[in-house]
Amino acid sequence: MKKLLIVFKLGFIVIAMSGLLACAKTNEEPLELRRIMQGMQHNMQEIELGISKKDWELVSQNALSIASHPAPPFLEKLRVLAYINTELGAFKKLDKNTHDTAKELGELVLMDDKRKVEAIFLQLKDSCEQCHQEFRTEFQAYFYE
Ligand code: HEC
Repeated sequence: MKKLLIVFKLGFIVIAMSGLLACAKTNEEPLELRRIMQGMQHNMQEIELGISKKDWELVSQNALSIASHPAPPFLEKLRVLAYINTELGAFKKLDKNTHDTAKELGELVLMDDKRKVEAIFLQLKDSCEQCHQEFRTEFQAYFYE
């Protein structure tokens, strides 16, 4: 009897969760992820400004803030995970690539090496683009249409 109750409870949780997910899916409010992306876009602009002014502090601060960008809230993370599903490995790898490159840029001590800073900045830009090319269009079609 106790077992049956547990099965019943689990069943209920699963139904409630999928209901929640389905309901969330039709909600076309922009994801928090989009706001995070916009924040990173702003960081990239500041880095570019920093490079042109040779303001390495500005470059470093903004690169480190990309490296430690916030994660979306729990429920949204679940929705994204459910969608990414079997491609999670690829998605995570691209995310880590951006993260690691941003960290490298932020921690570059030889900041007056403008060429090196520029080279890593290009790598960082490229890491953003790689994920957008692979995921963005389908991702937006799934969550917003
Ligand atoms: C691991 C994958 C991934 C990486 C890495 C990534 N993005 Fe994105 N990006 C996305 C996805 C998915 C969307 C679509 C989000 C949405 O529309 O809700 C997006 C959307 C965006 C947008 C559009 C937001 C809007 O208003 O529509 C900008 C700008 C952006 N990303 C900037 C960046 C920058 C800058 C970087 C690198 C520093 C970056 N992204 C790295 C996956 C990624």
